Amino acid sequence: MSKLTFVKPNGDRIEVEAPIGRTLLDIAQQNGLELEGACEGSLACSTCHLIIDEDDFDRLPDASDDEEDMLDLAYGLTPTSRLGCQIIMTEELDGMVVSLPSSFNNQLF
Ligand code: FES
Repeated sequence: MSKLTFVKPNGDRIEVEAPIGRTLLDIAQQNGLELEGACEGSLACSTCHLIIDEDDFDRLPDASDDEEDMLDLAYGLTPTSRLGCQIIMTEELDGMVVSLPSSFNNQLF
């Protein structure tokens, strides 16, 4: 089973099982992490914003133009930001480290 490590805004690191073929949004939510995903993956929000570890970012396929457009609206955008609903877990991504941002455009924690 592939694994991912999520880093919560308070710095806690949580290693979770990451089934191949599931999105990072799904995996985060299945593990009780606070990632909203308001549009349920239809690229109409930016509440599934995740920050990929710099060392892992190049392992990801490039973002589509639509993803880039939505990302521009994400609060706290970084050079390694992606939308969690658009990243599908593959064996190549095993062991990746992903941070949850501390806030989103439409709500504050
Ligand atoms: Fe809305 Fe990802 S859940 S863009």
